Amino acid sequence: MLLQVLGTAAGGGLPQWNCACPGCAGARAHPERRRRHAALAVHAGEDRWYLVNATPDIGDQIEAVPALRPGALGDTRRTPVAGVVLTDAELDHTLGLARLREARDGVEVLATAPVRDAVREGLRLDTLLEPYTRVRWRELPQGRAVPLDGGPGIHGDGSGIHVGAVPISDKRPRYAAGTGPDTGTWSVALRLTEPATGRTVLYAPSLAVWSDAFDEAARTADCVIVDGTFWDEDEPVRAGFTARTATAMGHLPIAGPTGTAHRLARLPGRVLYTHLNNTNPLGAPDAEQYKVLAERGLEVAADGMVIEL
Ligand code: MLT
Ligand code: MN
Ligand code: ZN
Repeated sequence: MLLQVLGTAAGGGLPQWNCACPGCAGARAHPERRRRHAALAVHAGEDRWYLVNATPDIGDQIEAVPALRPGALGDTRRTPVAGVVLTDAELDHTLGLARLREARDGVEVLATAPVRDAVREGLRLDTLLEPYTRVRWRELPQGRAVPLDGGPGIHGDGSGIHVGAVPISDKRPRYAAGTGPDTGTWSVALRLTEPATGRTVLYAPSLAVWSDAFDEAARTADCVIVDGTFWDEDEPVRAGFTARTATAMGHLPIAGPTGTAHRLARLPGRVLYTHLNNTNPLGAPDAEQYKVLAERGLEVAADGMVIEL
């Protein structure tokens, strides 16, 4: 299985356009600290890739990876970007869909029902894109996996990747507050498996609770790429942008008794944190917090990282 890390920042990115906090100022002074909004590209078959989440940085994220650029096979308008999978309907994971309006053959989007309905009815992105291109929705199932690539005749070489959702929480985006059913599928982790090799990756940029289902999925994954939004529970309150704790914002912190580090340290597979908020001390590569992670065998994902399993 082949993955490209396209971005590793939480909403706002690093730096955030209207912020001069130490993390954002540090990223302006040291460009190598810049992080685009969290996203992945998953190799689904020959010259076909699926993006996991469509961020406001999507154009630059595609351009940054040669394998995602158009023009292969002598067709100047053919893109290797075959579709998008959404983990939730948050703006930092969906606004990029609008940037795909030039898509010649439409845009395939895999999402759970509440996420699809929020993007359709809350953001009205289908209606917005209708005069330009067609959004083709496909259900992202929970408890089972479907071939990631819905295209015809491309699984014969055994390179196919399967995808399924592990429910995380009913945390709705603020624009969708009070809408839709409570099904646990407003925010999900993706379980990506490659039947030919048995390899499994779990991607959870938002982790509101450590459920039994998530625990099982994490223990059986070769690689877990997980919510590293906040270092500790009180970080958002200390930073002064909200009165809510990390957990109340739908993101278990990394450190402390409610944190994920001690649980993740016990997993057999590789673990990488992503979706770092600009207040997270891990934004500075010399932060002492890196030692705490290293002692537990935990990593922090970087933009541009290639993960091959
Ligand atoms: C989140 O990750 O919790 C959301 O992106 C927050 C937001 O943008 O409101
Ligand atoms: Mn986010
Ligand atoms: Zn900032």
